[in-house]
Amino acid sequence: MVGRIAVNAEYLRETEKARRNLRQLIRRKNCAPILLRLAWHDAGTYDAKTKTGGPNGSIRLEKEYTHCANNGLKIAIDLCETVKVKCPKITYADLYQLAGVVAVEQSGGPTIDFVHGRADSTESPEEGRLPDAKQGVTHLKDVFYRMGLSDKDIVALSGGHTLGRAHQERSGFEGSWTEEPMFFDNSYFVELLKGESAGLLKLPTDKALLEDPEFRRYVDLYAKDEDAFLKDYALSHKKLSELGFSPPSSGYKVLAQGAVGIAVAAALVIFCYLYEVNRRVKLLIPPL
Ligand code: HEM
Repeated sequence: MVGRIAVNAEYLRETEKARRNLRQLIRRKNCAPILLRLAWHDAGTYDAKTKTGGPNGSIRLEKEYTHCANNGLKIAIDLCETVKVKCPKITYADLYQLAGVVAVEQSGGPTIDFVHGRADSTESPEEGRLPDAKQGVTHLKDVFYRMGLSDKDIVALSGGHTLGRAHQERSGFEGSWTEEPMFFDNSYFVELLKGESAGLLKLPTDKALLEDPEFRRYVDLYAKDEDAFLKDYALSHKKLSELGFSPPSSGYKVLAQGAVGIAVAAALVIFCYLYEVNRRVKLLIPPL
């Protein structure tokens, strides 16, 4: 489970300040892609069975960012640290997920609902929970099902490769997936369907999306319907950012809705009572 912290008005203000700082950071450094990769790698270690890993900020720890799959992400951790020093109250867990959300939005992607309150953990999961780009369909399904995500989530989230590029010295791969890697749109799927000829990057795990019929259904849909992609992406991204975390606000919302219901019912009973009293008084006192 990802722990929860108490969220008060001061924490909400600090989060909004962090959001503004992240926007400025992205504009100054053009770092939206690596911030999105950081958010995904912190969250993507979740194991639904053991309820370990997930978006708990543990990627900030050396024992985790030195995992092979995280090569290069120390850059993003250090960038986020410049925001953390200005907004020390926000947890790393919230900061990294907020960075992912802001990165997508600032690149022209959809607005993603962000809920605060993730606690930081000092426990890192064992190495090997993130997907290996050299593998195929079965591996992708194994890794994402372990997180509790679906085939649709796998395809929608893979569309995150509309941003950024691979670096030989970090992953052994080189190049971008799209012609405009700083824009968040459905071009990842359009390029994927064009095949190898376009000269853009295609990882074995990208190609796997064309092989499995259930994956392929969504690739075809997202390539021709950008709105469908943006809508599904926002939902899948929110799920990813909340793996193992039950936002306190949903509890508050239920409570608040319950309280409003009770208040309306009570007001109705009082109104009926007063109406009846008024009617009887009128019957007892004949008009002049
Ligand atoms: C489906 C399994 C996935 C695999 C195997 C995979 C693999 C990779 C690899 C090998 C790189 C290149 C890293 C480098 O050399 O700098 C990369 C970059 C990236 N990945 Fe993924 N990824 C996957 C899913 C995702 C998801 C779900 C997201 C976000 C929702 C994402 C977002 C990114 C971004 C934005 C970059 C570019 C980073 C940069 O430009 O510095 N990836 N990914």
